[in-house]
Amino acid sequence: MTDVIPEPRYVVSYGGGFFELDPDTGLAAGEGAEHTERWLRATLGAATGLPLPPGGGTDGNVIRLTVDSSVTKDLGTEGYRLAVMPTGVHLAGGGPAGLFWGAQTLRQLLGPDAYRRAPLPGRSWRLPLSHLQDSPRFPWRGLMLDVARHFMPKEGVLRYLDLMAAHKLNVFHFHLTDDQGWRVRIERYPRLTEVGSWRTRTKFGHRASPLWEEKPHGGFYTQDDIREIVAYAAERHITVVPEIDVPGHSQAAIAAYPELGNTDVIDTTSLTVWDSWGISPNVLAPTDNTLRFYEGVFEEVLGLFPSEFVHIGGDECRKDQWRASPAAQARIKELGLADEDELQSWFIGHFAKWLSARGRRLIGWDEILEGGIAEGAAVSSWRGYGGGIAAARAGHDVVMCPEQHVYLDHRQAAGADEPVPIGFVRTLEDVYRFEPVPPGLDESQARRILGTQANVWTEVMEDHARVDYQAFPRLAAFAEVAWSTLPAPGERDFAGFERRMAAHYRRLDALGVAYRPPAGPLPWQQRPGVPGRPIDGPPPNR
Ligand code: ACM
Repeated sequence: MTDVIPEPRYVVSYGGGFFELDPDTGLAAGEGAEHTERWLRATLGAATGLPLPPGGGTDGNVIRLTVDSSVTKDLGTEGYRLAVMPTGVHLAGGGPAGLFWGAQTLRQLLGPDAYRRAPLPGRSWRLPLSHLQDSPRFPWRGLMLDVARHFMPKEGVLRYLDLMAAHKLNVFHFHLTDDQGWRVRIERYPRLTEVGSWRTRTKFGHRASPLWEEKPHGGFYTQDDIREIVAYAAERHITVVPEIDVPGHSQAAIAAYPELGNTDVIDTTSLTVWDSWGISPNVLAPTDNTLRFYEGVFEEVLGLFPSEFVHIGGDECRKDQWRASPAAQARIKELGLADEDELQSWFIGHFAKWLSARGRRLIGWDEILEGGIAEGAAVSSWRGYGGGIAAARAGHDVVMCPEQHVYLDHRQAAGADEPVPIGFVRTLEDVYRFEPVPPGLDESQARRILGTQANVWTEVMEDHARVDYQAFPRLAAFAEVAWSTLPAPGERDFAGFERRMAAHYRRLDALGVAYRPPAGPLPWQQRPGVPGRPIDGPPPNR
């Protein structure tokens, strides 16, 4: 057995021999293999110091990369076959993506030092003689990163795309806007970033904490930064799904353009980018002006992000201001709607149609089910499985990301030394035993589950080391859930996974990932005296 994570579908090892890479080992790429050839020469070239010259090496001393229709037929476009023989290495993908995932496996087989960016002295580079066949369980294997609560500079985002690729994750859900910050430059509305991308201070810890970080926090991506991020992701066969959150979680936008808020209820000119956490009551006004403004935002967003899906948020929209607003109430009446829930549904429905007319599809958090959702829209099921089950039964596509299971901001152990502990205890083993497809769906409904996604909300993660700590090692377990075809949760071989993790921790070390060590946080990973909000007991089974 190999120690590959996520575990491949099928592996045979041949008796302990090796194929050894040396300065003559060639890298020969067929048609469709260009991305992977470039990526392998850059990453393995740096780690090993080997030139990996194009074309065949002498006497079969070559790693051959091909896209092969017989692999497509058996394993799909994301599948691959890897044959490591004494006479050479052949990696065949069912498509360019499958080839790339196969290259990730090949890198793991070379050992942890293959993850470094310069060669260590005296290393040899050997692949165990073996044959692998592999393909993913789900087409949507996602990570959501919240860069609104705490900004992650571009370099950090590119690094996370590399970490995703190393775990065969392929959808980056980019949470770009929220009450606490607007992170993408929109050329026609410059104040969104001039005003909306920074705040004067930040709550340190959970919202009940008395502590403040008394310094400005901010940052945003220029449109060229976004183009670079999207292209870097595409080179790694990762799709970037942008999220622009409406009609709630919009205080930063209202602070920038006060006319977007409910001006007949509060003085929106006095609003600032929020400096604390929770659910802001300051939501968008359901006016034509707001719709036209966001159409302008989405026009630029569509120009930057080629993904089929565009996420419009839709979660946690407090309705107090709409209840108090004569303009919102007049709108409800004019549209013949029953209540504020239907008003939200109308708002989301507008953008579902708007996106659909432009060849895209809307995805939103499961609140978008309330009051009915548009045909073709998909749901991120976060408040448990329930929203996803209802959506799948109604014929909508679903990404399962229940907060009880795969919210990686939740603490990963019960100890008092966990940094700013939030929510339920979700250990590495809990995540390993997470099952994205709930019982009770028939086969056609189960096929609506496009996949699953781990969500990283960053209220209490002020820098990339804190994000690493919350995400790892659990993202490795999550990747196996999303990629591999595992038995039922109770029958999963967690002990076997932990054994493979021994090798994986060394890969993460080489990559410079500040994961939570199995024995608990290192002294500098702790945040003594910063209050969190732990929730006792097991999560409710929803
Ligand atoms: C969410 O966690 N509010 C989607």
